[in-house]
Amino acid sequence: MTEVPGPVSRAKLARRQQHVAAGVGTTLPVFVEAAGGGVLVDADGNSLIDLGSGIAVTSVGNAAPEVARRVAEQAAAFTHTCFMVTPYDGYVDVCEQLAELTPGDHAKKSALFNSGAEAVENAVKIARSHTGRSAVAVFDHAYHGRTNLTMAMTAKNMPYKQGFGPFANEVYRAPVSYPFREPAEITGAEAADRAIDVLDKQVGAGNLACLVIEPILGEGGFVVPAEGFLARLREWTQEHGIVLVADEIQTGFCRTGDWFACDHEGVVPDLITTAKGMAGGLPLAAVTGRAEIMDAVHVGGLGGTYGGNPVACAAAVGAIEAMRKHDLVKRARELGTRMQERLHAIAERHPGAADIRGRGAMMAVEIVGADGRTPDPVRVGSVSAHCHARGVVTLTAGTYGNVLRFLPPLAMPEHLLDEAFDIVSEAFDATA
Ligand SMILES: Cc1ncc(COP(=O)(O)O)c(C=O)c1O
Repeated sequence: MTEVPGPVSRAKLARRQQHVAAGVGTTLPVFVEAAGGGVLVDADGNSLIDLGSGIAVTSVGNAAPEVARRVAEQAAAFTHTCFMVTPYDGYVDVCEQLAELTPGDHAKKSALFNSGAEAVENAVKIARSHTGRSAVAVFDHAYHGRTNLTMAMTAKNMPYKQGFGPFANEVYRAPVSYPFREPAEITGAEAADRAIDVLDKQVGAGNLACLVIEPILGEGGFVVPAEGFLARLREWTQEHGIVLVADEIQTGFCRTGDWFACDHEGVVPDLITTAKGMAGGLPLAAVTGRAEIMDAVHVGGLGGTYGGNPVACAAAVGAIEAMRKHDLVKRARELGTRMQERLHAIAERHPGAADIRGRGAMMAVEIVGADGRTPDPVRVGSVSAHCHARGVVTLTAGTYGNVLRFLPPLAMPEHLLDEAFDIVSEAFDATA
């Protein structure tokens, strides 16, 4: 193992800096040449353990045989026709699978897009078209993407919004349930009523087209709202004809130990947005929902040149096949249990590791100072830097930048996860 990044990666980085816009960040500047089974092999020949999955994407691995084979076959047959011009089976196959796998047994339809942000934008378009209303409700600590509307929906200014306004209007923010940071004990239903009160008074339920929520907040720091929060919001949105959109772009497709995070509480949203893990690394996103809502939009109102590209659809069919075949729902739970054990062992020695949370293979630890509350992003930075130097790819998150999050590929063997957590544990000791 060379130092990380090694000399070859460092030379490549100089070229990257010359040609790639500075605004595109890099977590760990090693150049990858091969990846799979939870390992990234860099240009210096180092093997790094991947606890990030390219931000929750490579759940089935970086080169799952089911994905690679179908992608190669589809690329050899045709790479594009544009589904809006001349359709093909792969698009319909993905929509059929989404109808089967997403929560609820009502009639469902889907539309496919290229990125998560695009799916969220389209969910809002569909909800507005269906309800004839314009207001959109979102939450504190939310992340929904980097396009203009989704920047408005995203809570955190730096780095996502700074200098990029003006933003889309008619977006209203309500307080979320954030158990670790509540000033006093509050149930999920009470926290939902607190949000409902804000929306009712400041917007008016009758003006809301949709309420968009991540069932577990992703970039916001893997905040798991208290049990009952989502269910109470479901009840209220139903009462007032507000379309409930679950943004499952990060949580979906086995990541949380269920097919979808909403399944955990038995909540059935009206629309669900998916991307990331769905297509084994190829760009594909979807809005899936009640047929009557999806069909509210006039013909030609939804689409895009590449949305539901045939190669990306082939990848999704392969990824879903791998999820079923290897029972990745169960696998996510197993990895989650192991990560929790390892993180609790760290927290026993390091009280700054104050809140261990998440579900399934979407785990995080929020790190605070000696008072048990003040966010400590500096410690998170030094723990991460130690992990990176020792060849473990870790990601951070959180509104305060003080959350270490773990998203291993669901295909990762347990011994590799343990090896990675030995280094995470060592990183806490070394930076105490
Ligand atoms: C919950 C959620 N919504 C939307 C997005 C945006 O997805 P994309 O980066 O594919 O546009 C993300 C990406 O991290 C996400 O986690």
